[in-house]
Amino acid sequence: MVTGAARGLGAVIAQALSEHGARLYLADIAHDEGRATADRIGAQFFPLDLGDAAQINALARDLGGQTGGKLDGLVNNGAIATGIGGIGFEAVDIDTWDKVQRVNVRGTWLMTRACAPLLRASDGGRVVNVASDTALWGAPNLLPYVASKGAVMAMTHSLARELGPDRIAVTAVAPGILTTPSTDYVPAERHRHYAEGRAITGPQDPGEITDVIAFLLTQGALTLTGQVLPVNNGFVFK
Ligand SMILES: NC(=O)c1ccc[n+]([C@@H]2O[C@H](COP(=O)([O-])OP(=O)(O)OC[C@H]3O[C@@H](n4cnc5c(N)ncnc54)[C@H](O)[C@@H]3O)[C@@H](O)[C@H]2O)c1
Repeated sequence: MVTGAARGLGAVIAQALSEHGARLYLADIAHDEGRATADRIGAQFFPLDLGDAAQINALARDLGGQTGGKLDGLVNNGAIATGIGGIGFEAVDIDTWDKVQRVNVRGTWLMTRACAPLLRASDGGRVVNVASDTALWGAPNLLPYVASKGAVMAMTHSLARELGPDRIAVTAVAPGILTTPSTDYVPAERHRHYAEGRAITGPQDPGEITDVIAFLLTQGALTLTGQVLPVNNGFVFK
């Protein structure tokens, strides 16, 4: 199950996982785009607002009904990730703050909670949270988002301990700025900051991080549980 898979990084992750032979379920608030992406890669689409607990629980019920009550992997990728940067912390409005935490943080918790029984029923469930390296280097003028991704990283550590006894691994990836349409609005200066600051200099395509995510969903990734892996071509080291 990949959330936020209608477009952008989520769609690229879904495409890559489908090439690895996964039976895929996609969920997104963007229904038409999500269905089109799912059709393109032979996946099934579920409409979902991560801000709505009832929808999350209903999705997990429907999903379980279709998979015999099991889920091998959950990629918590869906988030409010675009159009919210470039605003100093004093100018952020409270509604934006609340909405970003509700979707990015609460949505990740609720999705993991709803899917936990399905993951337990699988022989080696895996959760991969998509965080962001902005929370590692302290990106300015993006505070609601940065706070939400810091929370996702912190939840990754604690959830790993709570789900570890069931041999479910919970990990996170922390990408830097990618060449997804969601970052088109970001000023060229911030793109340049990344391009020049990476060990592997230059822009980064979303397809460059999908092999790591695919690996984190495998049996062999159990030993990495709780870890946050920056997948940013060496922009920050953790
Ligand atoms: N693109 C980057 O540079 C970058 C860098 C670091 C981390 N990320 C993370 O990657 C993930 C994907 O981001 P993206 O860049 O592809 O952005 P995006 O905005 O293109 O994709 C986000 C997806 O989540 C969906 N979504 C938004 N709100 C939702 C909700 N309430 N319920 C369900 N779905 C919802 C959107 O419809 C969209 O399909 C996010 O978690 C983002 O924080 C992206």
